Amino acid sequence: MQYKTQQGFPSTLVVENWIGGSPAPAAGESFASRNPADRDDVVTIAPASTGQEVQGACEQAQQIKRSWARVPAPGRAKVIARLAQLLRSHKEALARFVTREMGKPIREARGSVQEAIDTAEFFSSEGRRLYGQTVPSELPDKELFTYRRPIGVVGVITAGNFPVAVPSWKIIPALLCGNVVVWKPSDDTPGVAALFADLWRRAGLPDGVLSVVHGGGADSAGEYLVRQVDAGLVDKVSFTGSTAVGRMIGGVCGRNLQTPSLELGGKNPLVILADADIELAVDGALWAAFGTAGQRCTSAGNIIVDRRVMPTVREQLATRARALRIGDPMDEDVDYGPFINQRFLEHWLAQRAVGVEDGAALLLDGKRITPKDQVAGFCGKADRGYYATPRIFEHVRMSMQVAQQECFGPTVNLVQVEGLEEAITAANATPYGLSSAVYTRDAKAMLRFKEEIGAGMTSVNNSTTGAEAHLPFGGNGWSGNGTRESGIWVLDAYTRWQAVNVDLAGKLQKAQIDLSDDADPEAADWAALTGA
Ligand code: UN1
Repeated sequence: MQYKTQQGFPSTLVVENWIGGSPAPAAGESFASRNPADRDDVVTIAPASTGQEVQGACEQAQQIKRSWARVPAPGRAKVIARLAQLLRSHKEALARFVTREMGKPIREARGSVQEAIDTAEFFSSEGRRLYGQTVPSELPDKELFTYRRPIGVVGVITAGNFPVAVPSWKIIPALLCGNVVVWKPSDDTPGVAALFADLWRRAGLPDGVLSVVHGGGADSAGEYLVRQVDAGLVDKVSFTGSTAVGRMIGGVCGRNLQTPSLELGGKNPLVILADADIELAVDGALWAAFGTAGQRCTSAGNIIVDRRVMPTVREQLATRARALRIGDPMDEDVDYGPFINQRFLEHWLAQRAVGVEDGAALLLDGKRITPKDQVAGFCGKADRGYYATPRIFEHVRMSMQVAQQECFGPTVNLVQVEGLEEAITAANATPYGLSSAVYTRDAKAMLRFKEEIGAGMTSVNNSTTGAEAHLPFGGNGWSGNGTRESGIWVLDAYTRWQAVNVDLAGKLQKAQIDLSDDADPEAADWAALTGA
């Protein structure tokens, strides 16, 4: 990795693929990631990998997988413990780089690096557990055991909105479990990926155990990586991104009888019941809808409100959304920064027409911020960044497209319902099922909501975002295929159970056959009693 300064711009990071423990000079073209708050700032130049380069990385990974699996799990975990220390000592620098490359506010960027630290700390101790079971045998002098075994080469493909946290959710447990990883990071954040990989190198990860291949677009490194499943060079895929791409990956993995880990989209409901603490609920709704400029898979899409409190919620939400401070994400006091990329901005711009055609009303008509617009408190470069003001649709019904389609951006819908039953029905009325929230003081309503909501994650009196690093993260329906990330649950995604029996009898023992299944001693009495 070299650091270069281009005239007039802050330093640009020039990165290469990292394969087999060394930088791999690229054969093909390169691409640039730019600061979404200032398009003149070229943050990183990275290679657009060719199919051959990606295949080469997977072949190399296949060669090394047995030697890494042989390292005892506590030894593998030591590398992860060192990674945790390095992440901690580089937290501020890495967070600033995250903000510069993908535009989330610096306070949030620190939180997302912290999420990686938490994950590394959790799994560094899991190396001393990774438990299997001892199981009694039905036969004498015979022992039964279960072991977690690594799957092999894991292809990891991640998005740009959490460029350290989400890769760490995948790469850390995958390596801890004895797998080897080939990682294709988002083309929005190749620089963050290169820095994260560099910390792994410094932590002492043996050469080739983690490789990084860059490159996005139509013919992308991600697609080349998924093709290696058909080629027999990738044994498992772990993907975070859109539902459409997740379906394609699921198809390729399915025909190869593999189970991928798919963390996909969301249209997350946040329910405010009539008895809720309204100020608390509006705090949660604002944060869930507009935090990270709405670019979390856990962001709230529909705020579902009881009729009796709708006037208050509507008023408070609109007033407070108008007052949000938008601008330079390096500013400590900014509520949200720019869109991560132009594609997200354009999708958000197009969402306005979707809502209007549906017949929804614009409570706040969010607009792209340009130098001509006077937006109170705005503190960014309007001509150089992808900024927008909040958009709130009201009078939204769950049957509308705008209530159904995910939109990564600062936008949310108000949906009115009457009572808990209608609220739960509305909350379950999208094909997604990632996160959800309910605001109420009624314990029975909390219970009912937890039992009946279809989402994989639910918050009671907290927002839809902000899952902690050691709880299972994942969704149902269009939000994923049921696999989970994080905590002990993710171990099932990166290991296969092996059942072992050890027979010490010195003679052939046949399970199910050698043991006589005695007739029920009561059967004869029963016959006498009934005269049968
Ligand atoms: C994502 O948007 O892909 O729960 C991950 C949250 C974060 C992770 C979001 N801890 O909002």
